Amino acid sequence: APTSAAACLNLDDFEKAAETLLKSKAWAYYRSAADDERTFSWNRDAFSTIRFRPRVLRNVRPVDLTTSIVGHRSTMPVYISPAAMGRLAHTEGEKCLARTAAAHGIPYIVSANSSVSFEDLAAEVPKDTLLFYQLYVNKDRAKSEDILRRVAQAGYKAICVTVDAPVAGKRERDERTKLDDAAAADLSTQASVRRAPPNAPDGPQDKKSQGIAQGLGSLPFTRRLPANCQPTPAAASESVAAAMFSYVDPTLSWADLDWIRRASNGLPIIIKGIQCAEDAALAAHYGAAAIVLSNHGSRQLEGAPSSIETLLEIRKFEPQVFEKLEVWCDGGYRRGTDVLKAIALGARCVGFGRPFMYALAFGDEGTQRVATILREELKQNTRLLGATKMSEVLPSMLNTTEIERN
Ligand code: FNR
Repeated sequence: APTSAAACLNLDDFEKAAETLLKSKAWAYYRSAADDERTFSWNRDAFSTIRFRPRVLRNVRPVDLTTSIVGHRSTMPVYISPAAMGRLAHTEGEKCLARTAAAHGIPYIVSANSSVSFEDLAAEVPKDTLLFYQLYVNKDRAKSEDILRRVAQAGYKAICVTVDAPVAGKRERDERTKLDDAAAADLSTQASVRRAPPNAPDGPQDKKSQGIAQGLGSLPFTRRLPANCQPTPAAASESVAAAMFSYVDPTLSWADLDWIRRASNGLPIIIKGIQCAEDAALAAHYGAAAIVLSNHGSRQLEGAPSSIETLLEIRKFEPQVFEKLEVWCDGGYRRGTDVLKAIALGARCVGFGRPFMYALAFGDEGTQRVATILREELKQNTRLLGATKMSEVLPSMLNTTEIERN
């Protein structure tokens, strides 16, 4: 496995590096997927079944990867997906991701269960950084309203409501890697750090508790979990995921979107976790600015389709959706060519989850390099495909016969 960020030539190299460098608890939490991990495989398999139909002799010297994402300019059709618990891998955790988004001019959707508070992240980067906030609605709606108000105040530019996780999926890798006895004993002596995630509605936002979070030090090399996951003694036998989802309101429904829009002061709403054409049409009906075709990195419902399959389904049954909102995708994307396949089918942009989390094993250097590799791959392959900008990447540049036969 590569031992430095510079030695990683592609995103899969970061996965190999992370498996050897991260503590087993961090690796198990990041890598885990639901049930028998079939959807995990489908997310990747979808790309193997699609061929390109490249065009030639088209003067591809200039190449422009920029695109518009909910009204903001992004330097490429790529963003950092919301993923919890960055500090399991690195002391700076999500700060590395925010700085990478700022340096590369791409969006970063901060997780509701981030291990650095959303306010601290906003303070870390220039004001024009494309920070979006991912919301899990609290059973106590007033707490969510308070968060949305503060998110808008902190300068976040959109709200991403994740709708595929009313409860956590069954992730056995994560369940198997329980806290060992030494870690549990260590934590039980720290009564003051038994708290919810800093961004979760009950979480610590005060300086004192953030100090405690920082005091946890270089997490990969200690036996401790970060502040947002300090388990109660009972939670020592729980998976990280189960411990994190306890506040999420499973009663959320379409009618609540209006309330979220009002509470967030009119920020654009992105609905993350759309998995069929009917729900894509409903999201348009309820006024979402964007939807993310996502199976949550195959961590929720086993048997859910890959985003490419959902994209094809929307093209077939609800094609008008593409005129009404932006369609984003995530799940299993690892190459510039994967991104180009989604763009050709009408996606606006593509999110990356695990690759950035794995890259946290190398801190900023790792996360910056993931974005650089994606930019280089996108530039090179856009040209090889015969296009010079994203609007020239068209459905006719793909052969989808095989995937559509299934
Ligand atoms: C996630 N994901 C996620 N999604 C979300 O809306 N809120 C969250 O807090 C998290 N947390 C989270 C943690 C970890 C470790 C992973 C791997 C994923 C899902 C994430 O946003 C995205 O949908 C997937 O990660 C995309 O798939 P890939 O790129 O990981 O294959």
